Amino acid sequence: MATLMGLKARQVLDSRGRPTVEVDAIASTGAIGRAIVPSGASTGRHEAIELRDADRPRYGGLGVMQAVENVTRHIAPEVIGIDLDDQPGLDARLIALDGTPNKSRLGANAVLGVSLAVAHATALARGEELFVHLNRLWNNRLAKEGIQPDLPTMPMPMVNMISGGLHAGGNLDIQDVLLIPTAATSYSEALEQIVRLYRVVGTILRKAGHESVLVGDEGGYGPRLRDAEEAFRIVTEAIVACGLEPGRDAAIAPDVASNHFFDPARGTYRMKATGDLDRDSAAMVDLIAGWAERYPIVSIEDGLAEDDWEGWSALTARLGGRMQLVGDDLFTTQEARIRRGIEQKAGNAVLIKVNQVGTLTETFDALVLARSAGFRAVVSARSGETEDATIADLAVATAAGQIKIGSVARSERLAKYNRLLRIEEALGPDAPFARPFG
Ligand code: PGA
Ligand code: ZN
Repeated sequence: MATLMGLKARQVLDSRGRPTVEVDAIASTGAIGRAIVPSGASTGRHEAIELRDADRPRYGGLGVMQAVENVTRHIAPEVIGIDLDDQPGLDARLIALDGTPNKSRLGANAVLGVSLAVAHATALARGEELFVHLNRLWNNRLAKEGIQPDLPTMPMPMVNMISGGLHAGGNLDIQDVLLIPTAATSYSEALEQIVRLYRVVGTILRKAGHESVLVGDEGGYGPRLRDAEEAFRIVTEAIVACGLEPGRDAAIAPDVASNHFFDPARGTYRMKATGDLDRDSAAMVDLIAGWAERYPIVSIEDGLAEDDWEGWSALTARLGGRMQLVGDDLFTTQEARIRRGIEQKAGNAVLIKVNQVGTLTETFDALVLARSAGFRAVVSARSGETEDATIADLAVATAAGQIKIGSVARSERLAKYNRLLRIEEALGPDAPFARPFG
């Protein structure tokens, strides 16, 4: 079988013009696999560490040259020559080389770049599409757990319509108002509906007097609205205007990202845009339950802060039976935190971001654990992205069921939506499509 002949790494820029790590993995067949690492803005405290060159003046201290050097100087000599078919072995080696619980020595950006670039190189060396190769790796993993294999399955998209929080200059307290075309019967039909809905949301905003409807980091509109409920009303209006039935054909899925307005010193949620400054955890649960009563919401992400386990359990007891409650900053794609969530009945779904954990194998760990506990999974991009579309293949290969990429604007988002269109075509007219809310 092919082996790894070399690794190259370089600094490139992401969709915010911030440096990030790109890795080329060179196979003994001559195939070159490439991956570019994404980067978040509303990161959780428990995420794996992204190394940045704080001590170097270039790019205002945001450079990633140290991580790049870690790939070429420290990782390459240890992994060159490995059997490309042994991704778990490679990842285990990367984890051991780093030796810290949060990848702070080599940097999760260095480690993830290598892990994903090698997966790309292996697929190329085998003459396979990436999702086919990843699906085999995934099914090998499932077999070890005694779980039936998955067919490659197109995910239901969860798409950003209106942006707020740290993604759009603090115009709105909550971070994103997303939409799920729940009744779509294929990925391409879902995408077409989403584009139509996105246009109509823009029209409604313009009619309401938001003259410059600019977009946030993930391509969602970033208007200055009164509160989250105004955003929910606008998106619901768009669903109706498209001739769809809210809650049946299309539904809302806010990412509250409450962590960034939680004040740990006071123990309260402080929503500055609305002047709602002193909500304790129970009052935050009441607020969210009220939204769920009044709007066609089927999924809520990060309704409570990353360490508010009690609040999460209370929210799950209240709403978990009738909607998806997704932990992003809560779980940070880490097996140990997901296990705690399962034990404490905190949330019922996991957001999966590869750079929160740092290797493909650990991403599979998170997905397998979620699967065996009956938790749903949403494979997600970051707010800082690039043309790299690996997560599209990952979502299909693992039959995760849902994908969250941002809006249908800006090419770092469309790179993934378009990759999914190509995968759907490759799978043929009977491509399995996940309809978790259908
Ligand atoms: P981030 O945002 O990439 O800035 O963390 C995405 C999210 O919160 O889901
Ligand atoms: Zn989130």
